[in-house]
Parts: sequence; C-alpha cells; structure tokens
Amino acid sequence: MNKTLILLIFLALLYAFASCGTPHAPEKVSGADLFKKHCVLCHGATGTLGLNGARDLSKSKLSREQRIEIVSNGKAAMPVFRQILSQDEIEAVAEYTFTLLTASNE
Ligand code: HEC
Repeated sequence: MNKTLILLIFLALLYAFASCGTPHAPEKVSGADLFKKHCVLCHGATGTLGLNGARDLSKSKLSREQRIEIVSNGKAAMPVFRQILSQDEIEAVAEYTFTLLTASNE
C-alpha cells in the first residue's frame, strides 16, 4: 500500500518536472541582448565604434526620452526601429545605452 503511494507521488513529481520543459510566455529579452543584435553593427559593443556616422554612445548626453525617440524614429543613417522592436524592447535597449556612458568616458 505504502509502495503504491510512493510510486504515485513519484509519478506526480515526474509529471510536474516534465511540464517544466514546455514553453511559457515568451521571456522578456534584455536590453543588452537587443543591443548586441541590433545596434553593435554601427555603434559597437562599447558604443564608440561610430560606423556610418553613428554617434558615440559613451558620450551621449541625451535623456531617456530622447534616446527612445531616436531609436523609435531613427535619425540620418540611424534606422527606424519602431517596426522592428516593440515599445518595451525600445525602452529596454534605450536604457541599456546608459550603461555604455561610463564604459569609455575619459
Ligand atoms: C545603421 C547604423 C546604426 C544602427 C544599426 C544603430 N544606430 Fe544609433 N545612430 C546611428 C547614427 C548614424 C546616429 C547619429 C544620428 C544623428 O545624425 O544624430 C545614431 C544615433 C544614436 C543615438 C543618439 C546619440 C546622441 O547622443 O545623439 C542613440 C541613443 C542611438 N543611436 C542608439 C541606437 C540603438 C539603441 C540602436 C539599436 C537598437 C542603434 N542606435 C542602432 C546609426 C545606427
């Protein structure tokens, strides 16, 4: 009798663990990952690359709102990301650019 109970609990646990592997709601991508994917091309990993006339993000003085606006709508060679990224993603990556400020500031 006890053995049956233990077996049942074991099976229940197994089932619970197995269902962990099934996909949940999509994970929120981090600003760092988005930056690596979409921005490094011109701005470089530290924001200083300056390809295609890209601004040096380690020296940018723009506010959070201004960054979100430029990422959303683009400027000069800077692409429009409104159609590529969600609003949440744009905000995340714009916020990430602040972490580049200290990276190479002399
Ligand atoms: C095709 C090249 C290119 C890519 C890719 C790119 N940028 Fe830019 N970015 C530019 C250029 C060029 C400028 C300068 C625009 C101007 O003339 O003011 C710029 C300017 C900026 C600025 C304003 C900086 C300042 O102080 O004026 C921010 C912030 C910025 N980019 C963030 C991003 C982010 C975040 C991404 C990725 C989502 C990204 N950029 C991807 C080319 C690019």
